[in-house]
Amino acid sequence: MSCSRKLYVIFPAAGSGSRMHSDKNKLLMEVGGVSVIDRTLSAFKKFADTKDIELNGVLVVSPGKVAWWESYISDKDYSSIICAITEGGDTRTGSVGNGVAVLEDYDPSDDDPVFIHDAARCLIDIDSITRCLEVITEEDTPVCVSGVKTKNTIKMVRTGSSESAIVESTPDRDLLYEVQTPQCFKYRVLSDCYSEASAEGYEATDDTALAEHYGYPVKIVEGSYSNIKITTPEDIVIAEALLNNR
Ligand code: C5P
Repeated sequence: MSCSRKLYVIFPAAGSGSRMHSDKNKLLMEVGGVSVIDRTLSAFKKFADTKDIELNGVLVVSPGKVAWWESYISDKDYSSIICAITEGGDTRTGSVGNGVAVLEDYDPSDDDPVFIHDAARCLIDIDSITRCLEVITEEDTPVCVSGVKTKNTIKMVRTGSSESAIVESTPDRDLLYEVQTPQCFKYRVLSDCYSEASAEGYEATDDTALAEHYGYPVKIVEGSYSNIKITTPEDIVIAEALLNNR
């Protein structure tokens, strides 16, 4: 099959999963009888097949686990969408940075779209992926992130310690979004952001925060309230309920 377009996806999957309080890797836990990682990768495979896109995925896994994941990916036949598996770092920024470094081997063009998608967001839908891709390929926008308007009132506190959570302010809820993945960058901007962040030691829990830090405009694209991140045990229950409602 000849593919008309080419894009890259970095799947950060090297988190410790400590908030799941389980000996089992949370990506191998099942939601509706299918593992979290299988749901995530299948969604992107379906997206690539439906849109006739050559998808080159980099899976970023825990240190020492590359061989195990290589075997998993070939057994499950994700070889058409995963071109490399690499080790992550201690932080999310470090892990994604390692994924970006691997992309260089595939000689991307400056404007090629590169997605970053949390392996743990297994309910990702094709429409959310498509909306991000359209912004990066059809608009003059170098970086975008899916997000949903926050439903709750959010308080800003003075320190991160829950024992001394004294409220500083209440931001206007109309101006607040919860961001998710997928996030999408033009390759050169992503590569430049991660090079500069590595040199400076700059870290963030969100990839587009690097783009903001280095002065690039970041557009929020409509995401989905169902696109939850499997983080704590109740997220498995919520994900099952969401699946049953599809
Ligand atoms: O820690 P957080 O919940 O934000 O993690 C989001 C995603 O980033 C998960 O898929 C996790 O596996 C990944 N991650 C990573 N390397 C880290 C920390 C998180 O790849 N050091």
